[in-house]
Amino acid sequence: MKTSPTPEWFYLTTPIYYVNDIPHIGHAYTTIACDVVARTRRMEGKPVFFLTGTDEHGQKVWQSAQRLNLSPQVYVDRIMPRFRDLWKTLWISNDDFVRTTERRHVEGVQSTLTALWEKGEIYEGPYEGWYCTHDERFWTEKDVPGGVCPDCGRPVEHVSETNYFFRMSRYQEWLIDWYRSHPEAIRPESRYNEIMGFLEKPLGDLCISRPVSRMPWGIPIPFAKEYVTYVWFDALLNYITVPRSGPGGEERLNLLWPGNHVIGKDILTTHAVYWPTILKALDLLPPSLIFAHGWWTVDGEKMSKSRGNAVDPVVYAEKFGPDILRYFLMREGQFGHDADFSDAALIQRINADLANDLGNLVSRVVAMVQRYFPDGPFRKSQGHRTPPELTQAAETELSEIPKLTARFEFHKALSVLWNFIGLLNRYVDSKAPWVMAKDPSKTEELNGVLSDLLEGIRLTSVYLAPFMPQTAIRIFDTLKTDEALSSLSYARDGVWGGLPESLTLDDPVVSLFEKRNPDGSLQKEARPEKPEKKERIPVKGTPGTASEAMDEAPPGPEAVPPGKPPIDIETFQKIDLTPGTILEAAPVPKSKKLLRLTVDIGREKRTIVAGIAGSYEPEQLVGKTVLILANLKPAKLMGVESQGMLLAAQTGEGVSVIVFDRPASPGAEIR
Ligand code: MSP
Repeated sequence: MKTSPTPEWFYLTTPIYYVNDIPHIGHAYTTIACDVVARTRRMEGKPVFFLTGTDEHGQKVWQSAQRLNLSPQVYVDRIMPRFRDLWKTLWISNDDFVRTTERRHVEGVQSTLTALWEKGEIYEGPYEGWYCTHDERFWTEKDVPGGVCPDCGRPVEHVSETNYFFRMSRYQEWLIDWYRSHPEAIRPESRYNEIMGFLEKPLGDLCISRPVSRMPWGIPIPFAKEYVTYVWFDALLNYITVPRSGPGGEERLNLLWPGNHVIGKDILTTHAVYWPTILKALDLLPPSLIFAHGWWTVDGEKMSKSRGNAVDPVVYAEKFGPDILRYFLMREGQFGHDADFSDAALIQRINADLANDLGNLVSRVVAMVQRYFPDGPFRKSQGHRTPPELTQAAETELSEIPKLTARFEFHKALSVLWNFIGLLNRYVDSKAPWVMAKDPSKTEELNGVLSDLLEGIRLTSVYLAPFMPQTAIRIFDTLKTDEALSSLSYARDGVWGGLPESLTLDDPVVSLFEKRNPDGSLQKEARPEKPEKKERIPVKGTPGTASEAMDEAPPGPEAVPPGKPPIDIETFQKIDLTPGTILEAAPVPKSKKLLRLTVDIGREKRTIVAGIAGSYEPEQLVGKTVLILANLKPAKLMGVESQGMLLAAQTGEGVSVIVFDRPASPGAEIR
């Protein structure tokens, strides 16, 4: 069901953020979500107007300025750039940025007030009651037993004054009818029900003025010199003052309106009750959609300034990169529900989804293309038959992603994309291009498989672009396709087959994402020395893998009987086992079985020679975290000193290296 006539344009807004403090991830969340939707809509070919900005009036801002002994204007001029610049850092593609202290907005608010005053929609009246400065709202006597605000628990003050009121109550029945016939106008459904419940109680009129004597920082009311405009009345109007300002404004508003507002759950009443009644009084339609998302907690706790646990998006974007923050916020929670932010969850996503699944796919495919087709451009296979599960997944599953995004189901959209990435990774493993590369009669098939994989990666980055625009560009650059973010289109670029006929992948293989240790440091970074173990007793055996001892490695370990005699725990503790991440892998010259590996074991990098060349191609191994026996006496294998042993199981077809079920940091204790 349509909520209201859909304009040709897609008009999308974030709340405008109070500049009483610097931005936190809650602000970044809404803005990133809107950006993902805006980019998606543009890729669908829809003209989009995406607006964000700052809410610079009102008590909270005024008090923050006073605390710093600054004039409010100087104060807001200092804080506003923190928001504007953050959006640049996070690659937010807003079309405009409004400040409520800007002339275009101030004039827009004043002319709206005058129009409503002249229509009799605003009246002057006495007000007596209780006022909460923090929430900037009035309460009646029965609301404040004990003299505290029922919302925030802070003390309220008694006020008795004349004010100006908007006749909101007269629109109550109309609003209920509107929502009854437009149930999709408020999402998720639970929020719709909340508002319908709220509207069962009588709706009062809305006090839209504040006496200058009590609160001087606001937009002066044109017909009442001693008053400024209530901050919420001022702020909500930004959604129409911006399109309306400047030449052709009225026409622009007609094109854009009604808009789509994304907000947090705490500001639902102002948007779903106050705002549509104001619009009605102005003869404008209610918003097409109000989507109220949940809140982020941090390590399970409410995020707040007083707790000192607010997560600064600038710090995270600097440390991990803006795309990683974007990905995490869009993937981790469900948009209408609360979600929890923790470094552990972020690092888990980086290591598993980004470095392992996506990063490894891109680097190993590009490395194989470079290695197996080193001369001249790689020509896309012509005769090869792509497996239908790949083309079908592209056609039926990937095409769901924009639809899910348009419904704000970001986590589902990303999970569909990651299923596709998983499919590509399984395709690599099942086809084993490194085996084909050894057989000249399979060159054409190899060319076909790599063409499929490059095409799959290209498509992945098209669908990834709204979520991780920078990563998409890096992938396009690596593939040397000439896709530009601004002109990407699902219809043209989002279908199987868009890979250029010929590609020259001559740059070094990119590593899109680096794995992280639990403390956030890069896994490849040198880490502080581990305290030396008291006893470092050489263990019997040879460096490299256990399996290589069968062949080239002199001298071999003792034959392993089907059950070994028991050892006590002390003996086991003498064995220095540790996870190690393979940084480099290359064949040992003149050896069929040996690979020379550079392995990061946390405290240092080791060269390890392993007899696994028959079972693994070097590029399959890079990035894998494997189990290393670190205190095996060094030994030379085919002239290369091996400084440890990579552990692997002998299988019927060769060997299988031991990897970890979950990310494990190099150097972590094995118990
Ligand atoms: N200025 C008003 C909005 C006016 S819109 C016409 C305002 N500003 S705010 O800066 O306090 O909040 C802006 C948004 O941040 C709200 O949507 C709010 O829900 C959101 N968040 C604040 N803390 C949040 C979390 N912990 N998690 C997610 N979003 C949070 O209200």
